[in-house]
Parts: sequence; C-alpha cells; structure tokens
Amino acid sequence: MAFPVVNTEYIKEIEKARRDLRALIASKNCAPIMLRLAWHDAGTYDVNTKTGGPNGSIRNEEEYTHGSNSGLKIAIDFCEEVKAKHPKITYADLYQLAGVVAVEVTGGPTIDFVPGRKDSNSCPREGRLPDAKKGAPHLRDIFYRMGLSDKDIVALSGGHTLGRAHPERSSFDGPWTNEPLKFDNSYFVELLKGESEGLLKLPTDKALLDDPEFCHYVELYAKVYWPIL
Ligand code: HEM
Repeated sequence: MAFPVVNTEYIKEIEKARRDLRALIASKNCAPIMLRLAWHDAGTYDVNTKTGGPNGSIRNEEEYTHGSNSGLKIAIDFCEEVKAKHPKITYADLYQLAGVVAVEVTGGPTIDFVPGRKDSNSCPREGRLPDAKKGAPHLRDIFYRMGLSDKDIVALSGGHTLGRAHPERSSFDGPWTNEPLKFDNSYFVELLKGESEGLLKLPTDKALLDDPEFCHYVELYAKVYWPIL
C-alpha cells in the first residue's frame, strides 16, 4: 500500500498534537469517547466505491447528528481544542490520532500512526455503521463492506473494553467491563462468562458468541490479545 507523503514540519506538528491529546484525555478522562469518534469517522468506509472512511467528515452537523453518532459532538469539540493549536493537521488525521492516543494511554498497544489523511465534507448517508440491535449477518454486511474479515470484526469489537453506553445516547446502559478506562482483553473474558450483574452485552456482542467462526476468535482473544492482532 502506498503511504501518503507528508513533510517533516507536518510530522513535528503530529508529535506536538499527540502530546496535547495525551494531556487532554488525561484531564477529561475521555479516552473511550475519543476511540469511538475515531471508529465512527473510519467505519463509514466502502471498499467498493472508495467512499466514506477516516476523512474527518463526521465533524459536519449533517453526519454527527446521525443517530449512531449520538454523543460524539462532545469528542469533536474536545478535538477542536487541539486543532486550534495545530491548524495544519487535518481533522481526518486528528481524529485517528485521538483514537491511537486513547488506546495507548489506557494501557493498550502502541500503534504505528501513519499521517496524511485528507479532509472531506462529503458525508455518507446514515446507515453505514453497525446497528447494535442486529446479529451476525448484519455485522458481516457492514464490516465486509469496509473490506474487513471475521477476525477483524471480533478484534475491533474488543474496543468495547473501554467506556460504556449512555441511555440518553443509544438507549443502552452500562460498561462492558469492570475497568472501563483500562484497555485489555477483559471484553472477551466477560463475553465468555455470560451475563454479569451491571455489565452490558449488546445484541451484536452476543452475536459474537452465537456464531462459531466469530466465537473461535472470542476464545482466542480471551486467552491472549494484542500480541496476535
Ligand atoms: C461491532 C459493532 C459495534 C456496535 C453495534 C457498537 C455499538 C455501540 C454502542 C450502542 C455504544 C454505546 C454508545 C453510548 O450510549 O454512548 C458504543 C460505545 C462504544 N463503542 Fe462501539 N460498537 C461497535 C463497534 C465498535 C468498535 C469497532 C469500536 C472501536 C474499535 C467501538 C468503540 C466504542 C467505545 C470506546 C464506546 C464507549 C464510548 C463511551 O464510553 O462514551 N465500538 N458502541
């Protein structure tokens, strides 16, 4: 894959923005919603039409008001503080960098960040992100459209190791794990344990258990996580 070319000055700005994001996330304790923002900007990608994807379009009202993006204006506004200090950085890069930093500061793996994404104002129609009330065929429809695999679906669902659902945003309630500010494989461990008092399992989370191909990866990641990603 050809990587986009950025100059040295841009790379220096990225490093400064990375530091500012670390400080921002620590002060606001907002790692989970930053990761969700990165995912919702990226998760509209269509591999066939090469539309959507991590292009910063979620900053537009037309897109952040989609039902699936409920609450994400909060993260968009947090990122605006960093954008104001580093205006050269595209929103597309900034949101993905926020996701990378969110994973790192909560104890997850260090992720190579490749800068150079371009911004777009072209918002995809509503409906490209997964619907939490549906099952395995829907997950495959949505993630295969992005060009991803069954293994990717399960690995990415592990993002729910961070954060919680808020009834006013999604009508679901509660965290998936007992330590929602710690990035580890406990999402998979809890999934295999079954229902636990106070912990959430979305229909799409449960679908990972019911489908043998998905369940194989849940079992694998419950034993060992990012070293094999
Ligand atoms: C597999 C399909 C997925 C569905 C159906 C789904 C659905 C949801 C829902 C309903 C919420 C609750 C939103 C709220 O009430 O605040 C949520 C939160 C969250 N999602 Fe997902 N999600 C999926 C995949 C992912 C992926 C791939 C990631 C990242 C890699 C991710 C990261 C998060 C995070 C970090 C939160 C917590 C946000 C917070 O605490 O404010 N999700 N997701």
